[in-house]
Amino acid sequence: MRPVSRLPQTIKQLLASGKATSFTTITGHIRSIRRQKQVTFALIDDGSCAEGLQAVLKNCSDSLTFGTAVRLNGKLIPSRGPGQDIELLVDSAEVVGPCDPSTYPLQAHSGNTTEFLRSNLHLRLRTQLMQQTMRLRADLKSAIESFLNASGFVYCHTPIITGIDAEGGGESFRVEEGKEFFGAPAHLTVSSQLHLEAFQAALGRVYTLSPCFRAERSMTGRHLAEFWMLEAEWTSSSLDELCGFVEDMLKHAIGDTLDHAWPRVTFHDAIKILEASQQSFAFPPHPSQPLQSEHEKYLAEVHFKGPVFVINYPKAMKPFYMRANDDGETVACFDLLVPRVGELIGGSVREEREDALRRNMLQAGLISEGDMAENAYSSYLSLRQHGSLPHMGFGMGFERLLVWIGAEKGLVETGSVREAVGMPRWKGRMGI
Ligand code: 4AD
Ligand code: MG
Repeated sequence: MRPVSRLPQTIKQLLASGKATSFTTITGHIRSIRRQKQVTFALIDDGSCAEGLQAVLKNCSDSLTFGTAVRLNGKLIPSRGPGQDIELLVDSAEVVGPCDPSTYPLQAHSGNTTEFLRSNLHLRLRTQLMQQTMRLRADLKSAIESFLNASGFVYCHTPIITGIDAEGGGESFRVEEGKEFFGAPAHLTVSSQLHLEAFQAALGRVYTLSPCFRAERSMTGRHLAEFWMLEAEWTSSSLDELCGFVEDMLKHAIGDTLDHAWPRVTFHDAIKILEASQQSFAFPPHPSQPLQSEHEKYLAEVHFKGPVFVINYPKAMKPFYMRANDDGETVACFDLLVPRVGELIGGSVREEREDALRRNMLQAGLISEGDMAENAYSSYLSLRQHGSLPHMGFGMGFERLLVWIGAEKGLVETGSVREAVGMPRWKGRMGI
C-alpha cells in the first residue's frame, strides 16, 4: 500500500518499496546483534513486520545490546547477504532507550518459556509470536468487518454493563453487593446477543465485536475470563442461509477460494459417528449429553478433517432464545467445529414467537408467571410483542479464530487462546 500519511515509513513499507538509494531514519528495538571485526550487524525491529531490517554499523558502541531502543539514520543499499533485498548502511546511531542486559527479562534467542512470558505480558508483546499474532488479529478483524460491511451490516456498540445474563448459564461476573449499579443488580456482559437483537429489530443487519466476560472455571486452552466475540444478527429465518453466510465470511477472511462446501451434520448423526468411531473417549458420547471438547475435536480433526457444522441440537441443551424446530425436540441452531479448537461459533434462528419465547423464559426461570415488573428480560420479550421480525445470528470467539486460522495458514502456532490476545485474563491470572 502507498503511504497515506505523513509519518516516516515503517520497515514494512521500506521493504515493500524496495528503494535502495534513499536516506532514511528508523526507530525500533534491537532484535539481535552480531559484532565482527570491521562491522556490526544489528537486526532492527519496529514491530511492523516479521522480517525486521538489517542495519550495518561501521562504529558500534557497547550500549547497543538486545532490547535497546535505537534511532538509526542511514542509506538503504542493496543487501549482499541472503534474505533481504535491502539493508541500512548506518551513518549515525542514537540510543533512545537503553536496555540493561543484566536486568532485561527476555532472552535473545527464544529461550523464554510460554509460562515465563505469561508472567511478563508487557514484554511478551515484543516476541515474534505475539507480534505476528497481533498483526494477524488486526488483519482478520479488518477482513471480517469489510465482508460484513459489504454485506450491508451496520456496526453497533453494545453495552458492557447489563442486568441480564444473556446465556442464562450463571457464569457472569456480578458487581459486588452494596456496590451495584446505582442500586440495581449488574453484571459484566457474557454476550452482546440480546442487546444486539434490539439493534437488529431497528436496523435489520447488525454486528458488533466486543469484550465478553465469563466467570469460567475451565483452565483450558479454549477458555478465557475475558474474550472478544464477534456477533451478528439479521432478518431471516433459514438455518441453511445462516450456515452458508458464516462459511462465506470465514472463507473470505482466510482467503480460501476452494469451492468445497463445509459439511453439515445433525447432532444425532454426529453422535452416531462418534459411537461408531471405536475411539476411547473419556466421556462416552450419548444423545442425551452435550458434546465434549474431545468429541468436537474428533469430529473436526479426525472424521471430517476440517470445519463441520453440527446442526439441530436437542432443545434441552441450548439456551432459551433458540427457535424450536417443528419436531418439538430440537432447535434450529448450529455449532461450527474446527480443528485444534472444537467449537468456534455458535448460532441459531431466534425464537421470534412471543408465546414460545415466554414459555422458554418461564421454564428457564428468567421471568415468573403474573410478574408484571419490568426487567431486562421483559424488554427482550417486548421485542416479540411489538412488530417481531424473524431473525437469526451467531457469535464467534475471536481468540479461538486466531488459534485455528494462525495454524491453518501456517502463520502462528499459538495453541492456546492465552497466546491469541495481548493481555489475557483467566482464573487467578491478570498480570498487567
Ligand atoms: O457458545 P456461546 O456461549 O454463545 C453465545 O454466547 C451466543 N449468545 C452467541 C450468539 O449467538 N450471539 O459463545 C459463542 C462463542 C463460542 O463458540 C466460543 O468461540 C466463544 O464464544 N467463547 C469463548 N471464547 C473464549 N473463552 C471463553 N470463555 C468463551 N466462551 C465462549
Ligand atoms: Mg456455544
